[in-house]
Amino acid sequence: MEKILLAVDGSEASMKAVDEAIKFANAFKAEVDLVSVVYEQPVFLAPGAITLPNLAETRKGILDTVLEATSDMVGHLANRFKENGLKVNTLVIQGKPAEEIIRLANDGSYNLVILGSRGLSGVKGYLLGSVSNKVANSVKTTVLIVRQ
Ligand SMILES: Nc1ncnc2c1ncn2[C@@H]1O[C@H](COP(=O)(O)OP(=O)(O)OP(=O)(O)O)[C@@H](O)[C@H]1O
Ligand SMILES: [Mg+2]
Repeated sequence: MEKILLAVDGSEASMKAVDEAIKFANAFKAEVDLVSVVYEQPVFLAPGAITLPNLAETRKGILDTVLEATSDMVGHLANRFKENGLKVNTLVIQGKPAEEIIRLANDGSYNLVILGSRGLSGVKGYLLGSVSNKVANSVKTTVLIVRQ
């Protein structure tokens, strides 16, 4: 069976990537792995700005909230595949987005990787974001980049 890896970050372009993935999965009777990567930003603070136990607690609270929201998002998107009679698996991974997507794409037995051209960062001026750029440059699989 054909397998598609679809990477989503909740952005407009990644939602268009979902639409394309549904079309491709239908056409090729493919199974879809839907992945979203949660990146915990490092925090740099002046010593004494906040006590360490509080910082650890706050960071964990934020991470848990983001992980939960991300799980909700991929679960919600997975339903769209199921409604179309398609087989879908959801993955929420912690790490650096490009690294994790590349690792998955090169480890797995995927026939196609689908992602959006741009993501959540508001920076304009480039056609590709750093994640789509790195993935397109580093995976052995065929990549479909869906424009915003
Ligand atoms: N955390 C993530 N998890 C899964 N897929 C992601 C993630 N971040 C980006 N992507 C995928 O990569 C596509 C391009 O996003 P990218 O992050 O490269 O652009 P950007 O946010 O505009 O720029 P940058 O992040 O480099 O500032 C998204 O549409 C999405 O498909
Ligand atoms: Mg991004």
